[in-house]
Amino acid sequence: MQFVDLKSQYRRLKSSIDARIQTVLDHGQYILGPEVRELEGRLAQRIGSEHCIGAASGTDALLLAMMALGIGPGDEVITSPFTFFATAEMIVLLEATPVFVDIDPVTYSIDPAKIEAAITPRTRAIMPVCLYGQPAEMDPINAIAARHHLAVIEDAAQSFGGLYFGRPSGNLSTIGCTSFFPSKPLGCYGDGGACFTNDDALATAMLELRNHGQDRRYHHIRIGINGRLDTIQAAVLLAKLDVFDAELLARSEAADSYSAFLKGVVHTPKVAPNRTSAWAQYTIEVDDREAVEAYLHEAGIPTAVHYPVALHKQPVFASHAGHGACSFPHAESAARRVLSLPMHPYLAPGDIQRVADAVKAAVSHPANP
Ligand SMILES: Cc1ncc(COP(=O)(O)O)c(C=O)c1O
Repeated sequence: MQFVDLKSQYRRLKSSIDARIQTVLDHGQYILGPEVRELEGRLAQRIGSEHCIGAASGTDALLLAMMALGIGPGDEVITSPFTFFATAEMIVLLEATPVFVDIDPVTYSIDPAKIEAAITPRTRAIMPVCLYGQPAEMDPINAIAARHHLAVIEDAAQSFGGLYFGRPSGNLSTIGCTSFFPSKPLGCYGDGGACFTNDDALATAMLELRNHGQDRRYHHIRIGINGRLDTIQAAVLLAKLDVFDAELLARSEAADSYSAFLKGVVHTPKVAPNRTSAWAQYTIEVDDREAVEAYLHEAGIPTAVHYPVALHKQPVFASHAGHGACSFPHAESAARRVLSLPMHPYLAPGDIQRVADAVKAAVSHPANP
């Protein structure tokens, strides 16, 4: 059993992916070729945003968003301590300071009720993270940001395909950033990402910043980066986009089956009312994670931990700006307890039953695999 089964997906899509890649090999425009523009158009249309700017990774998408907003030394960005490292890493790379605010223990996203207390005169932006595929609670976050004249950057790396009151993740704030890392719900065959915005000036800035700050060839009006989405990755994504809705449905059916099998056995993930998840991960909570992991691995079932250490406890942040002394109990508890089970659109019902049976056995006899 695979944790994410990219081979089955490739078998299903082989003819269209191969044809798309062959087209790129034939025209040879590997950098910012026509597929990049086609993909940007289709993604923007899909989520209803004015602009989509393809990026070299989800990490670069976050960096480009903050660079376009002019975030830099002395600025503070409020974010979640329970996320992939890149979220806070890019804030520090720009010499700004991440200010962590604890999560809601149900959705694992930043708790809007705790944000206002963290705002200072140096705060420039709020960066909620839509963890495991479920959009964060964006309306209250946007309302706080509007009151304090802050930007909101949605880290939608895991939630492209998810909905918040029917509105697509990625288009819920000033700038939305997503990732096309291969194991993401919409993943390419290397690194990739995108930024979305409805603001023309920010879109122009991000387009220029991703391409060395050029507004035209060899005319550099900003200090930027080499942060372009490459054409072959765009071609792969165009082929995968054709089946993305069917895959989202398959993920959500797999999640529903897991939850039905595991009800009352372990803490199963909950999607808040009026939201849908892209189910980047199906993540349970268990008391004795090491024992459960060991049991499942013995049974041939791959698992992963997203994420084992809350960011304020990571060595680089523990010594940074007093983060080590902070306490975020919900993030710390989640980091100790979460365990992600195999999740992808090609899980057979029998696979889900087998994983669920093994989880049941593991929690009842954790010490006896
Ligand atoms: C929440 C979150 N933010 C940012 C990233 C960075 O994306 P990438 O790996 O494409 O750079 C990821 C991806 O792993 C992520 O899960």
